Amino acid sequence: MYLLIPAAGVGKRMGSDRNKLLLEVRSQTILAWTLLAAQAADQISWIGIISQPIDWPDFKSILANLPLTKPVELIIGGSTRQESVYNGLQALPTAAEQVLIHDGARCLVTPDLLNSCAQAIRQCSGLIAAVPVKDTIKVVDESGIIQSTPDRSHLWAAQTPQGFNVELLKQCHAEGVRQGWEVTDDAALFEKCGIEVRIVQGEETNLKITTPQDLAIAEFILTSRSSSK
Ligand code: CTP
Ligand code: MG
Repeated sequence: MYLLIPAAGVGKRMGSDRNKLLLEVRSQTILAWTLLAAQAADQISWIGIISQPIDWPDFKSILANLPLTKPVELIIGGSTRQESVYNGLQALPTAAEQVLIHDGARCLVTPDLLNSCAQAIRQCSGLIAAVPVKDTIKVVDESGIIQSTPDRSHLWAAQTPQGFNVELLKQCHAEGVRQGWEVTDDAALFEKCGIEVRIVQGEETNLKITTPQDLAIAEFILTSRSSSK
């Protein structure tokens, strides 16, 4: 299975002066943790890291220091995640029929979740890992007034990996460009095109490292994993 890793962000909400994927948790960069999970997932056979050339010297030294046996390519990212994935799709080898997309910032993903998504995408056109939301969610207008409370039993928090049929995802991205759609994940493009996307049970610990607090939580989770081995 082909895996694209969007890693071309700047990490604004982290407040750091460099790509947050270069920050360390338990002596490894966030990018390294994500790559180690991809290396350990035996269903993954090719890895494309979508990234900004300014980060390539750092990314190359991370790659050189990891025990990776799978082919890895660096692909130039765009100014939004959507553009980055678009570039990643153009750079996939022509043999790729399905693709998994997994955010570099979700460095706590397990090899099991990557494997189960890789297996499931062979049987459907689109899927995402997601978990049921625990909080009650409110829809609020611009003046801070609640408009409605959606039934929680239908609410899921989207994660990555997300898996797609490559041809369909390319078509949906092209339609997105034509229509000027701006989305925060690829599943949303499928939804707008009216193509079914399935849920795969995600993992509570599969958080996206976004703020400094998430770094502390990731440190805690990785430490408890290493002591339970
Ligand atoms: N990403 C990307 N290209 C972009 C923006 C984001 O490939 N132009 C990637 C990030 O590197 C990250 C993933 O998409 O792995 C999820 O994005 P997010 O968590 O929002 O990361 P950043 O955009 O870097 O953070 P922020 O939004 O706080 O600036
Ligand atoms: Mg972002």
